[in-house]
This record gives sequence, C-alpha cells and structure tokens, in this order.
Amino acid sequence: MKLPFSTLVQILVLHLLVVLSASQDFDFFYFVQQWPGSYCDTKRSCCYPTTGKPASDFGIHGLWPNYNDGSYPSNCRSSSSFNASAISDLIGKMRSDWPTLACPSNDGTKFWSHEWLKHGTCSESVLDEHSYFEAALNLKKKMGLLQILQNAGIQPDGGFYSLDSINEAISNATGYTPGIACNVDASGNSQLYQIYLCVDKSGSKFIKCSWPGSYCDTSSECCYPTTGKPASSFGIHGLWPNYNDGTYPSNCDSSYPFDVTQITDLESSLQVSWPSLSCPSSDDTSFWTHEWDKHGTCSDTVLDEHAYFSAALNLKGQKDLISILNSAGIVANGSFYSLSSIKQAIAGGVGYNPGIDCNTDESGNSQLYQVYLCVDTSGANFIQCPILPSNTCQSTVAFPSF
Ligand SMILES: *[C@@H]1O[C@H](CO)[C@@H](O)[C@H](O)[C@H]1NC(C)=O
Ligand SMILES: *[C@@H]1O[C@H](CO)[C@@H](O)[C@H](O)[C@H]1NC(C)=O
Ligand SMILES: *[C@@H]1O[C@H](CO)[C@@H](O)[C@H](O)[C@H]1NC(C)=O
Repeated sequence: MKLPFSTLVQILVLHLLVVLSASQDFDFFYFVQQWPGSYCDTKRSCCYPTTGKPASDFGIHGLWPNYNDGSYPSNCRSSSSFNASAISDLIGKMRSDWPTLACPSNDGTKFWSHEWLKHGTCSESVLDEHSYFEAALNLKKKMGLLQILQNAGIQPDGGFYSLDSINEAISNATGYTPGIACNVDASGNSQLYQIYLCVDKSGSKFIKCSWPGSYCDTSSECCYPTTGKPASSFGIHGLWPNYNDGTYPSNCDSSYPFDVTQITDLESSLQVSWPSLSCPSSDDTSFWTHEWDKHGTCSDTVLDEHAYFSAALNLKGQKDLISILNSAGIVANGSFYSLSSIKQAIAGGVGYNPGIDCNTDESGNSQLYQVYLCVDTSGANFIQCPILPSNTCQSTVAFPSF
C-alpha cells in the first residue's frame, strides 16, 4: 500500500558561471560515435536500414558545433534544406559509417538530413554540406575507435570492462580524454553507448575537451554532462515527496520504472535545467532515472512521469533564483555573503522561506550549495515549508563562480 504524502519539496542545486556571450557562430565540434548494439539493446525499438544490417562497428552519430560555455546553436538556417545529391559520391561510406537505426526502416536519408539541418547548418561558415559529411567520415577513419578498443583487449562480446580501461585505451591512443556515455540494457546493466571527442573548428583535428574533469569547487569530483558544461544557473536536483514530519517515502513503485521515451519532448529543457554533474560524464538520463525511481514513483498517483518532470521544469521557470539573488547584490563571483542576506533575498523573491544547504570548498569555506523550497502536492505552487532541513551553513558563506 502506498502511504499518502502531504508535501512535495523541490531542491535546486546550484551551478554558477558567467554566461559567455556567443560572439562567434561556434567554438568547436563534438564528434559523437555510437555502438549500434547499445542503441538496439534497450527498451526502445531499433530498425536496421533498408540497405541491410550495419557492420559490427561504431557508427557516427553526429558532428555538433558547440560553444565553450556548453550551449550549442541549432537549426541555423531555416531556408537550407538537405541536398542528397550533393553527397552522392559519399553515399557508400555514409551507409557503412553513419547508419541509421531509427524505425521504421529507411535508407538513412532522414537521419543525415536531421543532422545536417539541426547541427551542420550551424557550421556552414566553415564547412558546406559536402565538406561537413566528408569531415565526419574522415574523423571516424582517422580515429579507428573499434580498433583502439580491440588493441586494448576490449571486445564487443557482451563482456564487462572497467570504465577506466575504456577511458585509458582511448586517451592513450588519441592523446585526448573522451566523454563516455552509457545507456541501460534490458536487464538494467550499464552499457557502452556513445564516445565523444572534441574537434577544432576546421572539423579535422581532435582537440582537448574542457570536460570531463574536476571543475566543481568541492573536494568531491564532478564531471560535466556529455552535452557540455551546464549553464550558470541553478540546476534542478529533484522534486521530492515528503511528509510533514520531515521523513519521506522512497522507491515506491517498481512497476513504473523510468522510461525516457515518455519525456522526449522535455529532454532538451531537462538537459539545460536538470543537468547531471556526476562522474563519469553521462547524458543525464541516469540522474533522471535515479530521481524518478527513488522519488517520482512516490507521487505517481498524482503526477505521472511526464507530469512530474514538467512540474519540476515549471517550478524552476516560475522563480529565477539567480536573478533574485543578483538583484539583492548577491553575485556568484567567489565573494562571501551573510547567510541571512541570502535567506532574506530568496524569501523576498519567492514569497516563502527557503532551506539553504552548504558544502565545503577545498580551502574549508562554507559555500552555498542547494536551495530547498516547498511545493504543494499538486506540484504546481510554492508553499511555506512545514519543516526546513537542518542548517548546514556557517553564518557567512561563499558564492562560488561556475
Ligand atoms: C544539389 O546538389 C547538386 C550536386 O552538387 C547540385 O548540382 C544542385 O544544384 C543542388 N541542388 C540545390 C537545390 O542546391
Ligand atoms: C596507457 O598508457 C599507460 C602509460 O604508458 C600504460 O601504463 C597503460 O597500460 C596504458 N593503458 C592502456 C589501456 O593501453
Ligand atoms: C562580487 O560582486 C559583488 C556585488 O556586485 C561586489 O560587491 C564584489 O566586489 C564582487 N567581488 C569580486 C571578487 O569581484
């Protein structure tokens, strides 16, 4: 039997940085390759292209123009369309190296057209359509990802390998640390899914990525998501059903596991507002899975999976904590502020008293980490908290930049 809950609590985790203005069209590319077996071995359906089963090799997912601040341009030229005849000389290589696995079965043109319109048009100042696809094909050949792994004894044989060994094999062979993204197979195992490397603006040379690594200002490690460095805003940590006495239910409904296909329309907003900072770098879905399975399933009688994630996004959109703090002169620039001024600013801007959670930076300073606000059981309205989490901050706290 499910216990009734009376209060939902939203926790917002702080990520800060000065948003760089995107003065140029893009700064670098992500080159992303995917393992077809891991695309297919999940609950989502996959279909082989009409031209036949792809080779047992990594396929290109895309070559994505990106900004250094982690954001990226997309669909840069609405008038531009994909011209299949412009790459007719590459078509054999495209079929073998950039195969589609989407359903229903098709010849790949849809996938390539999507990649060109969404990403390729944003690097058109450097690479026209033919050069864009050719650059990606050349990068795949130059890297030889499958061979790199096989040389290190890592075979696509269904076996398990340590993340470190995969990371090390690629780092040793290319000279650059890759981003490694996993997904979850039908039995719940983490499996190697996508490999990211950064590429210079010419689309021809691998370069060092500014991630992953220890960029967050605590003694514990943090890694940026494979989609890039999160924006300098508060990120959502979770929306947690709670009881009035401060205890909370968890893992309430194993019959309703997280299903990413329920929230495809929210995915890009979630990547911005609910990014993962755990290591190794991931595409955030493991974070969302954890939050849904542990917390979301305890309010699933009120909010189904889609409604739950929408509710959290709407709440974050209702009150912009960063501007609330900024307008009170509290800026994420590494300065110290009194805890009471932070509480007062948020209480003034939101209308309710927040819970403030601090952690400790490498020099031992108390720093602003998480902000708790309470929300009614509909998940729509902020309310006064029946009980606040116990104070973890010193009276003066640092507000680090990010
Ligand atoms: C498509 O590409 C072909 C081959 O490069 C070219 O001759 C043709 O003009 C292009 N069509 C459009 C609409 O740009
Ligand atoms: C990577 O290089 C280091 C240093 O040369 C070596 O000790 C290690 O065994 C290599 N690892 C792999 C997986 O090749
Ligand atoms: C941080 O911003 C505050 C408020 O604008 C300002 O008073 C302070 O001097 C700044 N500190 C640094 C280190 O820039």
